[in-house]
Amino acid sequence: MRFDVLTLFPKMFEGPTTESILKRAQAANLIEIHLHNIRDYAFDKHHITDDTPAGGGGGMVMKVEPIVLAVEALNLPPKTPVILTTPQGRVFNQKVARELAQHERIAIICGRYEGVDERVRELVVTDEISIGDYVLTGGELAAMVIIDAVSRLVPGVLGARWAAEEDSHAMGLLEYPQYTRPAEFRGLKIPEVLTSGNHQAVEVWRRRESLRRTWEKRPDMLQTAQLTDEDRAFLETLKTKTDQSH
Ligand code: ADE
Repeated sequence: MRFDVLTLFPKMFEGPTTESILKRAQAANLIEIHLHNIRDYAFDKHHITDDTPAGGGGGMVMKVEPIVLAVEALNLPPKTPVILTTPQGRVFNQKVARELAQHERIAIICGRYEGVDERVRELVVTDEISIGDYVLTGGELAAMVIIDAVSRLVPGVLGARWAAEEDSHAMGLLEYPQYTRPAEFRGLKIPEVLTSGNHQAVEVWRRRESLRRTWEKRPDMLQTAQLTDEDRAFLETLKTKTDQSH
């Protein structure tokens, strides 16, 4: 999987893309992250990449030419998504991450300032993505979020154990609580079932805790989660319990 990122601030990507799992994934040639400085495609004397908005008003707008030239220089194969990170985009989530992970290559343009010249959208952008309903100082952090979430879906980037974990998220539930040694800390013990050695009991407990958490914290997710009859019966007991305590 190859990511081409067009940005005015390539140095911002140091750290998130050069440590830990993304570092290893690149070393193993499972993913490639190519950073392109939009400024290198501004061929005027001062390499200007922004200008005042037509029609007046405050702030600056990213110029159309450097961005379009930078995208064209990539010579992208047809159908390669060219994503603009912007608060106006469709909201990113695990489903969008899975969709993007199907591509062999994606390009991401990091928006900045008050926005980009609208003609960038008309000429090169195929998709606009927001990472949430809040405004960042620029699209770089959004691009990093997208790269991170998509990369971990590329086969081999996570170990086999984690890959299965992803399945549980695919079911649309929150994760169950996790514990590790020591068995007791400040009077708080690891739930007994987890140290019982009874794998089937562990599985039942984990599934129920996933359901309980999702019901408590993100009940909206239960609308679309894949639930068994047993899951539904357990959720009913949770509801009955709360009804009784009111
Ligand atoms: N640029 C500024 N805010 C953003 C957001 N929430 N998502 C993506 N790009 C952005």
